[in-house]
Amino acid sequence: MEPITHPTHLKIQDAYGRIARIGGCCGPQSGCCGGGRAGEVAQGVGYSDTELATLPEGANLGLSCGNPTALAELKPGETVLDLGSGAGLDVFLAAQRVGAEGKVIGVDMTPEMVAKARRNATEFRRRTGLDNVVFHQGQIEAIPLPDASVDVVLSNCVLNLSPDQATVWKEIARVLKPGGRVSISDMVLLKPLPEALRQSVEALVGCIAGAALVDDLRDMVQASGLVDLTLTSKGEAVEAMLLADDPMTDHLLGLLPEGTLPSEYITSLIIAARKPA
Ligand SMILES: C[S@@+](CC[C@H](N)C(=O)[O-])C[C@H]1O[C@@H](n2cnc3c(N)ncnc32)[C@H](O)[C@@H]1O
Repeated sequence: MEPITHPTHLKIQDAYGRIARIGGCCGPQSGCCGGGRAGEVAQGVGYSDTELATLPEGANLGLSCGNPTALAELKPGETVLDLGSGAGLDVFLAAQRVGAEGKVIGVDMTPEMVAKARRNATEFRRRTGLDNVVFHQGQIEAIPLPDASVDVVLSNCVLNLSPDQATVWKEIARVLKPGGRVSISDMVLLKPLPEALRQSVEALVGCIAGAALVDDLRDMVQASGLVDLTLTSKGEAVEAMLLADDPMTDHLLGLLPEGTLPSEYITSLIIAARKPA
């Protein structure tokens, strides 16, 4: 992998390296998407208890903003890529759906996350008997995979963390096979954020400050060559991520103009699209 030099990448890698080391989001010292209490966040953004029970311990760090795997209609034998795979949550869920004939590849730029995901993979193999997951360290702006090599691209609360989302969308289109599909969960802006929030490192790491405006998202997807874009609002996920009694939530809400709600600015979307056959 190319050395990380972009200031945004360095901030994100530093923050998520710390989160991997302490084992999840636990308030202001971690400062991440979800803010705390991993199980509660995961249920609130759409994961069922049954799904969560199949995961190795520590695969869910409470960093998600939707459940893109549930909506991806994965089939046995498919090759799936998860961008910004963290500790492996969606990789392990997808791996059970594509089965022994399929394969799921996680890509993440933070070494501590990749190391944690690989440790979790050992436990996943032991529990399920499946040997169909692999984790690569890499940047989603330069996906370390060949052209036209995957059937489905998943991602969960990651694209907003990239300083170059237009390039990420082009990379997604490059690695998809013709006819391949996208199921991505991400935070998206309904209107521009107040400057104080836009400049906040905590809001960047917390999946807010880097979110794209919905119209810019549409333009980036169209420019990538992907078609049949659908955006499904999962606004309730925002409430689940902004937990009551959480110091990080209080800090971020404090940067909004008095009397305004986060839901006026930001929502969680499931972004679906496909590469023409
Ligand atoms: C909010 S967490 C989501 C993790 C996982 N998708 C989940 O739902 O549990 C964001 C993850 O994306 C990774 N990440 C952020 N920006 C990235 C980039 N430009 N390239 C690769 N990984 C990135 C971080 O290291 C972190 O593990």
